[in-house]
Amino acid sequence: MYINFWYPVARSEDVKSDAPFRTELLGLRFVAFRDSQGQAHVLHDVCIHRGGSLGKGWVRDDSVVCPYHGWRFGGDGRCNLIPTLPDEAPPARAKVDSYPVQEKYGIVFAFLGDLPEDERPPLYQIEEYDDPGWRANRLTVFEVPAFYERSMENGLDPSHNEFVHPAQGSPIISANLRKKPLEVENVSWGSRFLVRFEHEAQAMESKALGDERTVVTQATAGSGHVGPNQMQTWIRFSETSAFHQYFFEAPIDDMRTRIFFVNMRSFLLEPEHDDRIGRVNLVVAQEDIDILAELDPVQTPDSNTKEVLVPSDRAVVVYREWLKQFDDKGWRIDFDTLKARRGKSAFAIPSPARRTSKNWVIEPVPLQPA
Ligand code: FES
Ligand SMILES: [Fe+2]
Repeated sequence: MYINFWYPVARSEDVKSDAPFRTELLGLRFVAFRDSQGQAHVLHDVCIHRGGSLGKGWVRDDSVVCPYHGWRFGGDGRCNLIPTLPDEAPPARAKVDSYPVQEKYGIVFAFLGDLPEDERPPLYQIEEYDDPGWRANRLTVFEVPAFYERSMENGLDPSHNEFVHPAQGSPIISANLRKKPLEVENVSWGSRFLVRFEHEAQAMESKALGDERTVVTQATAGSGHVGPNQMQTWIRFSETSAFHQYFFEAPIDDMRTRIFFVNMRSFLLEPEHDDRIGRVNLVVAQEDIDILAELDPVQTPDSNTKEVLVPSDRAVVVYREWLKQFDDKGWRIDFDTLKARRGKSAFAIPSPARRTSKNWVIEPVPLQPA
């Protein structure tokens, strides 16, 4: 798990101006709320007075109020009222981390890290999101009892479909691709590949739609990732029909992942198809979850020698190489230390303001040395 990337925090509709939304991510707690202008804010959840949980409080005057002694924190994280000292400006140390926010695709994203804006890795842009030739299913959010890297790797693995996905028609990668390493292309902050599936696209498409259609073509499909936790899958059933699927993954801790899933389609654009396609997507997701929940070890091994990797695992290897680059930047959270010290100290992901101001009460999360 890494600092300095964009993470999905909440559905837009869950972030309100009349009550805080509390959530867990990267083994830590966060609180989100909306101000009267409609702007969403994401703050660290721990009150710097005596450790109250801001997410258990309430929202008043564009601020989140701690339920323990009523201290108020604005969207910038600064305490703006201490009820027992109503005539005094709160001290400079009375602040919590506030994270940069972007709201897109019905999701509130936070940049969980301290990099200045021009150095931040990107939030993935879904180019066709507002294109009238495409339609987005209602955002789906689901929890997976698995480590997020395992979930990402599952999406970057074209050879599991044949065995795991009867709901998609068990697509098989073409025979001439099986033995040679996948051709994986690096992109900015990630990588991607595209392969042909020999399986009749007819079956694949009709299963994916939950009906029996009769178009016969060959399907191509591919996947990619940007950063450690944003995954894309492109499935092209024919010249005119495709699914583009976007998975924004939020590691809850080292055992669980929350996935925000956006499914785009370029055909059957009428809203009445949403439910059926959404249901089939969930069946497919459950097929993956059933496998991921049983993987041992839960976390990705620290060396590729602890597994037997073959050419079709190439995209997984490239993903791991990218993670090593993020390790080299010193962005990996030292989760073992975090767990060992949990309960003795509160920890926060450092926010950008820590680069420019001092006097932070909460200890920054331990990181593995670069
Ligand atoms: S612990 Fe938050 S106001 Fe006292
Ligand atoms: Fe899968």
